[in-house]
Amino acid sequence: MGNTFYITTPIYYPSDKLHIGHSYTTVAADTMSRYKKLRGFDVMFLTGTDEHGQKIERKAEMAGKTPKEYVDGIVGWIINLWKTLDIQYDGFIRTTDEIHEKCVQKIFTKLYEKGDIYKGVYEGLYCTPCESFFTKHQLKDGKCPDCGREVESVKEDAYFFKLSKYQDALISHIENNPDFISPQTRQNEMINNFLKPGLEDLCVSRTTFKWGIPVEFDPGHVVYVWLDALSNYISALGYLSEDDSKYKKYWPCDVHLVGKEIVRFHTIIWPAMLLALGEELPKQVFGHGWLVIDGGKMSKSFGNVVDPEILVNKYGVDAIRYFLMREVAFGQDGNFTNEALITRINSDLANDLGNLLSRTVGMIDKYFGGKLPKEQEANDLDAEIKALAAAVITRYEAAMEKMLFSDALTEVWYFVRRVNKYIDETSPWVLAKDAAQSAKLAGVLYTLAESLRIISVLISPFMPNTPKAISSQLNISGAELQTWDSLKTFGLLEREVAISKGEIVFPRIDIKKELEELANAQKGGA
Ligand code: MSP
Repeated sequence: MGNTFYITTPIYYPSDKLHIGHSYTTVAADTMSRYKKLRGFDVMFLTGTDEHGQKIERKAEMAGKTPKEYVDGIVGWIINLWKTLDIQYDGFIRTTDEIHEKCVQKIFTKLYEKGDIYKGVYEGLYCTPCESFFTKHQLKDGKCPDCGREVESVKEDAYFFKLSKYQDALISHIENNPDFISPQTRQNEMINNFLKPGLEDLCVSRTTFKWGIPVEFDPGHVVYVWLDALSNYISALGYLSEDDSKYKKYWPCDVHLVGKEIVRFHTIIWPAMLLALGEELPKQVFGHGWLVIDGGKMSKSFGNVVDPEILVNKYGVDAIRYFLMREVAFGQDGNFTNEALITRINSDLANDLGNLLSRTVGMIDKYFGGKLPKEQEANDLDAEIKALAAAVITRYEAAMEKMLFSDALTEVWYFVRRVNKYIDETSPWVLAKDAAQSAKLAGVLYTLAESLRIISVLISPFMPNTPKAISSQLNISGAELQTWDSLKTFGLLEREVAISKGEIVFPRIDIKKELEELANAQKGGA
């Protein structure tokens, strides 16, 4: 309805602390959410935690805690991590929240009453870390095809969801809505590997453990954790509750952002549940790639996780957010290395952006005692800078609308570098030697300051703090100078720019020394 935008991340298992790979999904969603807020949308950005299931129950047991005690500790830690990463969510749902548990029970009962859930016996294989059922022929070398770990044989009374009934409807929905599964390659994978070979009904309850939402009319059964988890996207909006105004306002979701390994759950099981409930389907499921280490998935069991807190403490949140969104084309896998991170910080942030700001502020200080005079004269290159700003804004917008974050940043940095080159071309230090060139010099410095204003608006969805530093050093105080609309006019900044010198925004890092320190810190050393 109207100008709304609903975006979600997956809800995270609070089984262990999260690593930089998990942060990647959330930073991307936050970036998109901030971009849409900048564009004036009424945004609902939902994240949360997926707290039930056998995996968590076992972890808690090992830790000598009740499952709830166990998850409470980690959920608190996750909420803090999102604060550290400046994640500005609008809703945080825990699957242990009463509103969620009641909603899931109602969904289960509704589907049962409709005949889309029926009772039977489940006999098959289960991967507990992935909370996934498999048949023998789906295994890879006898192990879980998703994570490569051992699976367990299970045989128990269970309820089944008639997934097979929705196979044709799903295929036609996917074919008729080319943006439903994005990027395109994931769509082909779903159709060819899962839908066309045929869907089997899905086991949606378990009886051999307790940590889950009891089936309302048969409490010996707990609801299968994926059916429980997927429902978060609507339970958080009050679906089937007394107050479903948020559901009415925000559903259908504009985009579910998920990692590639869970696209299957979001584009087959989830839409089938919604079809069975008679609800609209989400507009898009976007499956992004993984951050990998030496080509392999980052995972606690492989001992190769990178701790986001260590990185933020060392380099600041904006640098980490920038790196995550810039380094890897969203949708593809990307290798994470400390070296790539520090190289990016040094080249893009310290050299390009940091220098542009400190040179601009430094020159306004040095040549005009901190305040530009009113008398300013344009030079031959100004028209080009203006035109480039307009072109970059258009291309940035096109990239952001497709969630091509890296492309959007590439555009901004193309502009940053061009403006740095403009300094060399106009040589303010030469103009400064001649008093008759004062208006020309002031014009050059104004173009720099105004370019920085434009840059700071464009980077604001990615880097929440750097625009504040730019604004404070250039005394950009009016909120109207920091809106999307303000990008339409090059020259909004008042002419008499008065600077307040501040700290260097991104100090250069000594890469050799830093790599050693970082390796130690990540090993749990320093
Ligand atoms: N609880 C389920 C999701 C239920 S949504 C209804 C789950 N949780 S998770 O904690 O294992 O993963 C959450 C998200 O983090 C997933 O989208 C996953 O792809 C993402 N990532 C985990 N490791 C990752 C990388 N190394 N790189 C990028 N994303 C990664 O799945």
